[in-house]
Amino acid sequence: MRVKGKIVVLTGAASGIGRSTAILFAREGAIQVLSDINEEGLKKTYEMIEEGKDRTTIMKVDVKNPEEVKNMIDITIEKHRRIDVLIVNAGVVRVGPVETFPDEDYDLLIDVNLKGTHYTCKYAVPYFKKQKSGSIITLASVAAHIGQVAHGNYCSTKAGVLGYTRALALDLAPYNVRVNSVSPGATDTPMLQSDVAKQARDRSVTYEEIKKEFEQEGVMGRWATPEEIASGILFLATEESSYMTGADIRLDGGWTTQ
Ligand SMILES: NC(=O)c1ccc[n+]([C@@H]2O[C@H](COP(=O)([O-])OP(=O)(O)OC[C@H]3O[C@@H](n4cnc5c(N)ncnc54)[C@H](O)[C@@H]3O)[C@@H](O)[C@H]2O)c1
Repeated sequence: MRVKGKIVVLTGAASGIGRSTAILFAREGAIQVLSDINEEGLKKTYEMIEEGKDRTTIMKVDVKNPEEVKNMIDITIEKHRRIDVLIVNAGVVRVGPVETFPDEDYDLLIDVNLKGTHYTCKYAVPYFKKQKSGSIITLASVAAHIGQVAHGNYCSTKAGVLGYTRALALDLAPYNVRVNSVSPGATDTPMLQSDVAKQARDRSVTYEEIKKEFEQEGVMGRWATPEEIASGILFLATEESSYMTGADIRLDGGWTTQ
């Protein structure tokens, strides 16, 4: 068991990459606090955990709301006295050309992807500093590294996550706390499926055509499974990555290598 007894806090655990990560970490022995804005999805994740339900707490948390995020961290500390691994995974995507991009959609992207990442780190950092140990893992994206058609607003938030992660790594290095990100490419989750469906509607082509485009972005010619991204997150949570901080792992099937 690679994270046996580690206290793990994970946001966005009700779906996709977060759900697969929760299931993997449970199998690997973690004691987890899983949160999401979607309570039904969170309950389903809990049900899907085969080993380690007794080590798992679920909590409805909206990462846009600093009080709810602070409460999640406070409850974790009350219950477990420390946090070993913080996985800042909750995210949203909205796509469309910048000239017609709704302001409220951009607000949502910034509030969840950027400010949500900040709040989640903000309230946990004092405990990490006190402990002088731990690993923080954020979710960037290929969209942080390259441009994607009709993704300008999303790209700007994910590039922001990458910058935030690097800077926080510097702040926390003296405290023996590592901060890294993963950058998934096209990963088969409800988020990507909705992104593809919206682009198909906007461009009046079929879902399958857009799906094929995404598959061909990576040199491996297929989407990732959420489990493949969870594996990278697990690596960053363990001592196997003990000399990595401020780094980003591109799990993108070669998309950004071409
Ligand atoms: N799927 C991909 O192709 C892909 C690629 C690159 C990066 N990512 C990133 O990976 C992360 C996970 O994405 P996914 O593909 O699993 O998406 P997903 O939509 O399947 O899961 C995202 C989860 O975040 C939750 N969430 C959204 N807003 C929230 C809020 N305000 N508070 C709390 N939880 C909230 C959702 O309810 C959902 O359960 C995101 O940060 C995403 O940007 C995904």
